[in-house]
Amino acid sequence: MGFRIAGTGHYVPDRILTNADLEKMVETSDEWIVTRTGIRERHIADPETATSDLAAEAGRRALQNAGIEPGDVDLVIVSTITPDMPTPSTATVVQRKLGIPPCMCFDVEAACTGLLYGLDIAHALLSSGQRRTALLIGGDKLSCVTNWTDRSTCVLFGDAASSLVLQADPAFDGDFYVGAEVGADGRDADFLKIPGFGSACPPTAEGVAQHLNCITMNGPKTYQMAVTAMSQACKKVLEKTGVRADQIRWAIPHQANDRIISAVAARLGISERIYRNVSRFGNTSSASIGICLDELNRSGQLQKGDLILTAAFGAGLTWAAELLRW
Ligand code: ACO
Repeated sequence: MGFRIAGTGHYVPDRILTNADLEKMVETSDEWIVTRTGIRERHIADPETATSDLAAEAGRRALQNAGIEPGDVDLVIVSTITPDMPTPSTATVVQRKLGIPPCMCFDVEAACTGLLYGLDIAHALLSSGQRRTALLIGGDKLSCVTNWTDRSTCVLFGDAASSLVLQADPAFDGDFYVGAEVGADGRDADFLKIPGFGSACPPTAEGVAQHLNCITMNGPKTYQMAVTAMSQACKKVLEKTGVRADQIRWAIPHQANDRIISAVAARLGISERIYRNVSRFGNTSSASIGICLDELNRSGQLQKGDLILTAAFGAGLTWAAELLRW
């Protein structure tokens, strides 16, 4: 039995928020944002658009790309930190929106690492023979958990969703999943969080007025942890699989900040084969790696057999590096 990435898709809302727009909202400058982050613009959803709308559209595009009908899907995983609501899962909402028949559907919460956590889980369910066709989606409407008065965070994020169709296929020779290093260290949970959204601190009018329902972050600490976590995870997965850095066709790090990407690239020694699009989308959380894969796929820059090294970090602190074969 072979396992393949049968299709990819992504969706971003039409509305673009530029650095010039942000200059009118907080005390910042295009020059500061570009130099510190590499971000030039991000897409922002309308108030009436939910994460499930972004996710369903990305999923629809991935299914079309794969040439697979919704009726063939038997596993839906949505990675998100901005579910439509705490329950039911956004995966079940997407299932309904796409007309996918009854099957296993659930959400994964591992912040920006979520798509890679989902990929690991989906591969386990496919390779154990329990499922045949998985629709994996990373989607977030970060604009609804952004404090638009905090210049240290509001310049970073964008809304988006991306999707992969993963399939067990007896006619396919190979396995998209070569190896992975996936982990988390809860001791670092306080550096990056949304403090006032859950049972520890339920939302109140007072809390919302203090922006407790929004992302708070120690930027410099998160930056250091991101570089260390992603480069160590990449090195471990290369060691485990016996693959050398020069054999990697594309490295796709989570698109949080151009400087973080460059620091990881330098540590791995593969700067010229690093895919970057953070300037156009900002940090789109668990959508980011899937957007990169979809852009590479649709622009014909992936050949069968290409090795792709993905890496992500996120709140928790969570991290993952996964080596994929196209
Ligand atoms: N415009 C202008 N000045 C700013 C801005 C802004 N938008 N934001 C902060 N500053 C100022 C600060 O107030 C500070 O001023 P001071 O020296 O007078 O106090 C100065 O710039 C430097 O601030 P730092 O926070 O030290 O800036 P740094 O170079 O570290 O860059 C950044 C900040 C871009 C946030 C960086 O730390 C970073 O990218 N961190 C990682 C963020 C990240 O990737 N998070 C992932 C979270 S996603 C998730 O899991 C949902």
